[in-house]
Amino acid sequence: MHKPLQGQIALVTGASSGIGEGVAQALADAGARVAINYHSHAEPAEQLAAKIVAQGGDAFAVGADVADEAQVDAMFDAVIRRYGTVDIVVANSGLQQDAAFRTMTLDQWHRVIDTNLTGQFLTARRAVHEFERRGPRAVSKALGKIVCMSSVHEVIPWAGHVNYAASKGGIQMMMKSLAQEVAPQRIRVNSIAPGAIRTPINKDAWDSPKALDKLLTLIPYGRVGEVEDIGRVAVWLASDDSDYVVGTTLFVDGGMTLYPGFADNG
Ligand code: BGC
Repeated sequence: MHKPLQGQIALVTGASSGIGEGVAQALADAGARVAINYHSHAEPAEQLAAKIVAQGGDAFAVGADVADEAQVDAMFDAVIRRYGTVDIVVANSGLQQDAAFRTMTLDQWHRVIDTNLTGQFLTARRAVHEFERRGPRAVSKALGKIVCMSSVHEVIPWAGHVNYAASKGGIQMMMKSLAQEVAPQRIRVNSIAPGAIRTPINKDAWDSPKALDKLLTLIPYGRVGEVEDIGRVAVWLASDDSDYVVGTTLFVDGGMTLYPGFADNG
């Protein structure tokens, strides 16, 4: 099997479950050595690392709260100690703290902005420092690749989730502005904007037949996404196959951003 990321080193934040876990597995399957970041649950991250090793790959788990500058630095230091450097950084950590706007607390606002937006800022900034510190490597045309995990909610407004939608809208312009700034150094920065992917974060939206029927009215392609759908796109965005893709958001959403409510309406 062709392994497009052979010889490369990847760090995936928030990789102990959900999309991050799927992305870490896909990058490992594509030949990368993978650092699996977790925040509070070491065990699933360690299990994933053990599984990848058992499959003949190389991975290890590294704890850090991506909203904390010192912990982000310590996480990168651990990856560099273990693997020498990093080529691919997937800034994936994200959470929801849903509340009606009128009752949303400042703490709920901060938790989401701190993890989803500031966390990606801190992760991407240290990635840029590391790519520039170590210079070009023969394993990739780019000096380094950053993949930001966004959401369809970087463009679709989401009542009851103002903090989350604001964080993803922020990621859109952070990613593009950063991509413009570091493209001359041959650092490629792009985003993936998943739609509804079957993970713990949105379990309520798919785990009963009634909820699933309602959710499917938002998805023209007629199925909920799986983490493998995102993993495959992450591999492509991290590989030389996408070497000319710079500053783009790739929507992987079964058509959710096509506004299906207008199909027989308006
Ligand atoms: C959210 C999910 C939601 C999906 C589509 C994602 O970014 O985290 O909870 O199902 O967007 O609305």
